[in-house]
Amino acid sequence: VSTPFDDDARKRSAADIFNSAVAATAVGAAWELGGLDELHERGVLEVDDFAAANDLDPGATAAMFRALASVGVVQRDAGKIRPGASFTEVYRAKAMFYWLCQGSWELFAKMPSLLRNGNRVGDFHRRDAKAISHASREANRAFFDPVFWRAVENVGAFSSVADLGSGSGERLINLAQRYPGTRGIGLDISAATIEMSAAEVRRRGLSDRISFLAADVRALRPRREFAGVDLLTCFMMGHDLWPRENAVASLRALREIFPDARRFLLGDTVRTTDVPDAEIPVFTLAFETGHALMGVYLPTAEEWGTVFAESGWRCIATHRTDALAGTVVFELE
Ligand SMILES: C[S@@+](CC[C@H](N)C(=O)[O-])C[C@H]1O[C@@H](n2cnc3c(N)ncnc32)[C@H](O)[C@@H]1O
Repeated sequence: VSTPFDDDARKRSAADIFNSAVAATAVGAAWELGGLDELHERGVLEVDDFAAANDLDPGATAAMFRALASVGVVQRDAGKIRPGASFTEVYRAKAMFYWLCQGSWELFAKMPSLLRNGNRVGDFHRRDAKAISHASREANRAFFDPVFWRAVENVGAFSSVADLGSGSGERLINLAQRYPGTRGIGLDISAATIEMSAAEVRRRGLSDRISFLAADVRALRPRREFAGVDLLTCFMMGHDLWPRENAVASLRALREIFPDARRFLLGDTVRTTDVPDAEIPVFTLAFETGHALMGVYLPTAEEWGTVFAESGWRCIATHRTDALAGTVVFELE
C-alpha cells in the first residue's frame, strides 16, 4: 500500500541516486583541481578565492562544490566550504572516484552499446589511459604501498626489477630511490603511457637507471635487457593476463623470458564473491561492472592460486588489506 510518506521517500531515494552520480564526477574534479587536498589540510576554503587562485570559472566552481554538498561530502555556508560527514571516507577513496569518472566514464556512458553482442568485436571500448594511470598512482600510495614495501623487504637483495604494466612509472622510481644500487625496466602496452613515464623519469634524473619498453606482457619474447632481472613486479594489471589458460601460459612464459627472476610480486584487485547487492563497498561495483563491459575476466583470489601452481610459481605469502575491498598482493617465487 502506497502512502504519501512512501512516495516522498521514494522520490528522495531517486534524487539521492541521481545526485550521487553528479557528485561522484565532482569528487574526481575537486581532487584534480586541488580542492579536496585543501579541505583535507586546512579544513575550510572560500569558493571565490579558490576559483581565483586556480583560474577557474567561479560559477562552475560553486556548482562543483554544491554537487559535493548534495551528498554530504562537504558543507556549504555562504561562500565557505568545509568537510562534510562523508568527507574522510570519500577523501580516502578519491582515486577510485577518479578511476570511475575521469578514467572510465566513456565505458559507462556507452553501456547500452557495449552490451550488444554485435558491437563487442575488435577494439570496441575506450578509456582515458592518462587518467587511469593518475588514479592508479594514488591507489598505490593509499592501498597497495603498505603491503608492497613489506613484501619487498622479504625479497632480500636484488639488483634489477622489471615492472609489468608500469603505468606512471612511479613504482620503479620509488624502488630506485629507496634502493640506490638497483636498475629498473618498465613494460607497458600503451605508448602514450610509456612516453609520460619516461618523461617523469627524466625529470627526476633517473634515466640512467630506469628505462621503458612498449610491449604487450602477454606476448613477450626474451631480450638482452631482461638478463639479470631478479625481481618482477606487476600491479593492477594481472587480470589483463586472463582468461585462465592465457594467464597460465603468460606466467609460465615469464619464467623463461626472465630466467634470473627469483621473486614476483603480483598485486591486484580480485573479484569479490557473495557480497549482498546492498552491501557492495566503494570501487568494487565500478571495477567489476567496468571489466564486464570490456569483456575482461576478473579472477578471484582462489582462482589466482590455482594458476600459480600450474605455471610453476610458488605462492609463499598472500597479503590483503581492508582499506580497499579485494586488494591482494601475492609473493611468488
Ligand atoms: C591500472 S594501470 C596500473 C599501472 C601501474 N602498474 C600502477 O601500479 O600504477 C594498468 C597498466 O597496465 C597496462 N597494461 C594493460 N594490459 C597490458 C598488457 N597486456 N601488457 C602491458 N601493459 C598492459 C596499461 O596500459 C596500464 O598502464
